[in-house]
Amino acid sequence: MRVEDIDTPALLVDLDAMESNLKRMAGFFADRTCKLRPHFKNHKSPALAQKQLDFGAIGITCATLREAEILVHHGIKNVLLANEIVSDTKFEILADLSRIASVVVAVDNEKILADMARVQRNRNVHIEVVVDIDIGLNRCGVRPGEPALALAKSAANEGLNVRGIMGYDGQHQSEPPSPERDEQVRKGSKALIDSAALIRAAGLPCSIVSTGGTGTSSLSGIIPGITDIQAGSYLLMDTRYLGLGAPFLRSLTVLATVISTRGAEHAVLDCGVKALSGERGLSALKDVPGAKLAAVHAEHALVEIDPLICQKIEVGRKLEVWVKYSDATVNLHSRMYGVRNGQVEEVFKIEH
Ligand SMILES: Cc1ncc(COP(=O)(O)O)c(C=O)c1O
Repeated sequence: MRVEDIDTPALLVDLDAMESNLKRMAGFFADRTCKLRPHFKNHKSPALAQKQLDFGAIGITCATLREAEILVHHGIKNVLLANEIVSDTKFEILADLSRIASVVVAVDNEKILADMARVQRNRNVHIEVVVDIDIGLNRCGVRPGEPALALAKSAANEGLNVRGIMGYDGQHQSEPPSPERDEQVRKGSKALIDSAALIRAAGLPCSIVSTGGTGTSSLSGIIPGITDIQAGSYLLMDTRYLGLGAPFLRSLTVLATVISTRGAEHAVLDCGVKALSGERGLSALKDVPGAKLAAVHAEHALVEIDPLICQKIEVGRKLEVWVKYSDATVNLHSRMYGVRNGQVEEVFKIEH
């Protein structure tokens, strides 16, 4: 199938760019002690997760229990659910998954440990946990040091299988590198490493010390004591990440059809926010100099054209729009067309 024959709106991934990202990140971690545990939410495609594992990732990180279910049901044996879950219903699903795969879940609250342990006993399985530590994002997580140790002890006392700790420094992912930012990233990693040392000194296991994302992978990934990096965006890359110094290529576009024009200065595409997230700002058109998105409605994108630079855009023409925020855009689609040299080579199913 040629790209022009794909019905629109459709999500496309440039295979050359994506494979270059896959190999570049894998190459960075190949000879290091620290490994990659890529985040699933970026692409939600089990086939791409498998490619990441084939290229050396030690497991897959995810954000929801549903994502963990998808991964396990696609045969992935090492999953880190880097987020808190609360409720017996969820603990029961987790317990059932733990029968078939290692699914390590983040915890940050004493209150849920007893419930989790009860479900574990009732289902006769071992639930694996990491203590989630807040290293400055101010989202989930306990404070580093003694509070982290206290929670690890409580989890172990309840009979849960304590695997280690994690802390996501999301506040630094979209900051361009600078001596100040790098210092803060190192500080966050040190807080994790010191917490891990405390936990081990108390006689508890702590083999996982997980952190980082695409923007900090090359920095946290070389700090001794950090075991793995949860980078997600590097694989598909979105234009939000460009210019922040991450050496990856953007690969993700939405293919859209021009459904209406007025004069030489106005065109309308059939991709609104139901196909292209507008959450982090308006996207740019690929390879159409002189034309830009002016607004995105539910099912329409309005294009403003400078007729001095850009020839008239005719109804029926198909255009590609760069994806600004990959996580939120991928989530709107059920498949992603892998494209090379204008041909569809592979279709990746996006699981929900
Ligand atoms: C807990 C956690 N880890 C890792 C990541 C991956 O970050 P990135 O997409 O910047 O690589 C995210 C992204 O939001 C996250 O929430």
